[in-house]
Amino acid sequence: MILVTGATGKVGGQAVTQLLGAGTAVRALVRDPASARLPEGAEVARGDLADPGSLDAALDGVDSVFLVWPTLAADHAAPATIERITKQARRVVYLSARGTSDVPDQDPNSILGSHALVEGLIERSGAEWTFLRPGGFAANTLMWAAQIRQTGVVRWVHGAATRSLIHERDIAAAGVSVLTGTGHAGAKYVLTGPETLTQVEQVTAIGEAIGRPTRWEELTPEIALRELLDQGWPSAMAKGVIDAHAQMVTSPETTTSVVEELTGAPATPFHRWAADHADDFR
Ligand SMILES: NC(=O)c1ccc[n+]([C@@H]2O[C@H](COP(=O)([O-])OP(=O)(O)OC[C@H]3O[C@@H](n4cnc5c(N)ncnc54)[C@H](OP(=O)(O)O)[C@@H]3O)[C@@H](O)[C@H]2O)c1
Repeated sequence: MILVTGATGKVGGQAVTQLLGAGTAVRALVRDPASARLPEGAEVARGDLADPGSLDAALDGVDSVFLVWPTLAADHAAPATIERITKQARRVVYLSARGTSDVPDQDPNSILGSHALVEGLIERSGAEWTFLRPGGFAANTLMWAAQIRQTGVVRWVHGAATRSLIHERDIAAAGVSVLTGTGHAGAKYVLTGPETLTQVEQVTAIGEAIGRPTRWEELTPEIALRELLDQGWPSAMAKGVIDAHAQMVTSPETTTSVVEELTGAPATPFHRWAADHADDFR
């Protein structure tokens, strides 16, 4: 039995579908079974990663866990939650993030710091583990969906920022390959898409996928920051996002071939992800 957390989300949802397709017994951890829509064949168990005591029934009889962590939101409970999980499960495949450091120098209030915390707890638990460290998700471009639907124009910052975005299906496929195979204990896999695209090129690819013209409108970092603050973003997080994009202009993200090595199929190009999600932008 494999327990999948984040089962109603992008990567966990794909993991549930693909594990069922591989003939594996799957249990999906959800906070609200009444509203969770899951594929037929998945067992559903209620539980909250921020409340370790709520996990016992979900963990009963579980051999492995595909762990998607609600970054920062459940960190206060991480020591007790990881202890419960690894007391029951023999193996954990953890959805971490590229850039997570192996040395404890990351800000505990940052996303990468949250992943470093959870990775450390899993490493010290004695369970068999594998860390998936994907770079940026192609699905992050859904933040432009409303603008594209309404105007076809994406107003954002650092159009030349270059990323190797990855399809959520490929992350899940890598996880399924680890969970159904052998020889992955102690591996930290950096997963990316197959190519690099600037943000301007990403917007063009979305336009081609939906059959409508799309256009990039460059904002200055100052205006972009003001807009994020007006939307209620915490100041440190807003600055962090804009600075990270500035860095990707001068230091474009690189690609790895790990998805293909793990799954036997090349990683999915961004234009294919955009076609898969065209309706979200129409
Ligand atoms: N976006 C990126 O570029 C990127 C890159 C690298 C790594 N990551 C990592 O990927 C992970 C997110 O994956 P995703 O995008 O597939 O998720 P997602 O689509 O945002 O969905 C989040 C999932 O987490 C569940 N969840 C939230 N709080 C929970 C709790 N307290 N207990 C149990 N489940 C909870 C939600 O379930 P319900 O709300 O239905 O209960 C939902 O299924 C994060 O850890 C993030 O840091 C993201």
